[in-house]
Amino acid sequence: MARTPVTVMVTGATTGLGRALAGRLLRDTPHRLVLTARASSLPRFAEAGIAESERVALVPLDVTRPAQRRAAVAAAEARFGAVDVLVNNAGVAYRSVLEHVSERDFLDQMDVNYVGPVELARLVLPKMRARRQGRIINVSSVGGMMAMPTMAIYSASKFALEGATESLYYEVRPWGIHVSLIQPGFVHSESFEHTRLTASSERSADDVDDAYHAHYEHMSPFIARLMRVARATPDSIARRIVRTIHRRRPPLRVPVTIDAWLFGYLRRFLPRSFYHWLLYRSLPGVRRWGETPALPAAAPPLAPPSPPTRPPHRTPLAVDTRSLPRP
Ligand SMILES: NC(=O)c1ccc[n+]([C@@H]2O[C@H](COP(=O)([O-])OP(=O)(O)OC[C@H]3O[C@@H](n4cnc5c(N)ncnc54)[C@H](OP(=O)(O)O)[C@@H]3O)[C@@H](O)[C@H]2O)c1
Repeated sequence: MARTPVTVMVTGATTGLGRALAGRLLRDTPHRLVLTARASSLPRFAEAGIAESERVALVPLDVTRPAQRRAAVAAAEARFGAVDVLVNNAGVAYRSVLEHVSERDFLDQMDVNYVGPVELARLVLPKMRARRQGRIINVSSVGGMMAMPTMAIYSASKFALEGATESLYYEVRPWGIHVSLIQPGFVHSESFEHTRLTASSERSADDVDDAYHAHYEHMSPFIARLMRVARATPDSIARRIVRTIHRRRPPLRVPVTIDAWLFGYLRRFLPRSFYHWLLYRSLPGVRRWGETPALPAAAPPLAPPSPPTRPPHRTPLAVDTRSLPRP
């Protein structure tokens, strides 16, 4: 895409990667910007020195709210004519083993990281098709190509985003619309502090007797440490996104940190079973996982089994195969 001014819409633009991208776009490009944030976060734009101007629109948007999604895209189109580039950046991460996730947590995670971005894409696509141009850039994660323990629903949301984006990549190519996935791995940023816990994962992380306590005890500081020593920063990722916006033929997947690049290769070239074995053996403190009793200490004793009311069913596996005719 030429560096002539186009309209770029960035979601979740008041913190972290979104804010860094807003800064880069303002500083280094002539583009018109539609920067969105949840209504409660809008004042943070002023704190970051970003204000409404001829080329900047600040728009309230909770990506999980259908009416706000429609209003935000309508506001962008009313102000600048159309959205040329949509950057779906807003995202949240829940830290929880799968057993500690409620249906509500799961749906919230999917709403922000998957449903919101896909629905926003659906809203801007008709105009992009009509004008036979446009870019959709979805911020995924290394968690969208590999899943780590305690990050199950985060990975599920990013895997879903990757799947939908990959389909879209083929679907809208005939209209000259380019679709990309940005894949950051560990980034030196404060976003770890925004990680959400579920009610059960929070309880377990505090309770040394909980069956999953060791998972959190080892994984949380491990991830925090990797983020602290990471060389990538929100600004270095923002630079890669700007470069992706300006590429004539942007690739579908853009790994933007060393670990994302490395894991991409490991997953592609190592035999799957060896890859999973290696990853499992490398998990911090994994030998101590599962040492705590599987049931809470205060659980009532198990009731004695009630006598069977009919003879136990023999499963096919229990059949004595020696009696079967040989082929
Ligand atoms: N940092 C990393 O290490 C890393 C690694 C891989 C992928 N990523 C991905 O990069 C993207 C940006 O993450 P980040 O590191 O910059 O995280 P961050 O600092 O926590 O920022 C996330 C942004 O998303 C916004 N957001 C959350 N829920 C929202 C909702 N319902 N509607 C609208 N906006 C919402 C937040 O707004 P509020 O301020 O209003 O909450 C915030 O502006 C995410 O998609 C994330 O998954 C980050």
